[in-house]
Amino acid sequence: MIKLSRISTDSIEKILQEAQQFVDGKISKIKGDVFAANLFFENSTRTKTSFEVAEKKLGLKVIDFEADKSSIAKGETLLDTIKTLEAIGVEVAVIRHSEKRYYDALKDAKLSIINAGDGVGSHPSQAILDALTIIQEFGKIEGLKIGIVGDVKHSRVANSDAGLFRRLGAKVYFSGPEFWFDEGMLVNGTYMQFDDLVKEVDVLILLRIQHERHERNFSFKPEDYLKKFGLTKEREAKMKPTSIIMHPAPINRGVEIDSELVECERSRIFKQMQNGVFARMAILKYDLENKGFEFIDSKN
Ligand code: CP
Repeated sequence: MIKLSRISTDSIEKILQEAQQFVDGKISKIKGDVFAANLFFENSTRTKTSFEVAEKKLGLKVIDFEADKSSIAKGETLLDTIKTLEAIGVEVAVIRHSEKRYYDALKDAKLSIINAGDGVGSHPSQAILDALTIIQEFGKIEGLKIGIVGDVKHSRVANSDAGLFRRLGAKVYFSGPEFWFDEGMLVNGTYMQFDDLVKEVDVLILLRIQHERHERNFSFKPEDYLKKFGLTKEREAKMKPTSIIMHPAPINRGVEIDSELVECERSRIFKQMQNGVFARMAILKYDLENKGFEFIDSKN
């Protein structure tokens, strides 16, 4: 598996450029029969469906893999599952798993592994689509101030976004409940009180509370969380005129964001989802070309 942190900045910029070309109508079709499988051991709506659409747009043949009906339930390991798919002729496996760095156990796999989220670890394709969305708005990432707010500690999106945006020259700020802030994140940005952060940033990224990853149950009333740490209309009114709102989704309306702001003029939340297909096409193509597969490009 190629890790985002190990891909050169030049290559990341090329992936982002190609993603934008796909947005603008470029068509790429893989030569020959190439099979892909999407193995989602955690729930997903956006990532799973957009990878599948991306694979089909690139001309890949998508295997219907249902994680909960697979032989993993009979005790087969993830490595043996991957080796089985490899033996059958699958070339690409897109995997989401609750275990951080699940991919370490798959080092011997020869097929392409694309990480669609590993527990609290990382969500690299989300970072690429988020970067694409920001570049469409501002033309660049360098020099921007980007705030990431909420359950930072348990968010793989926060981790991947912050690392990528810092590399691309943004200043990253974090906010949210201090007990959900991980000091390890300070390598990528600084902590700021939310009411100061909303006035400062060009891009405000809100995060879902990751209840499923908490060791103990936090029982916030939605209205209390929104008032203390969420984007209310009062806070939104203090944002800079050109600032945008993003959220990787799923959204908990009325918790991390006032429901009426989800589709407000500043919101790029559904644009992010649309960009997810094009970003994932560019990621898949980059990975497959590195493995020697060829594509035929044309323009719509
Ligand atoms: N943003 C994201 O990863 O959404 P899904 O969990 O629906 O894939």
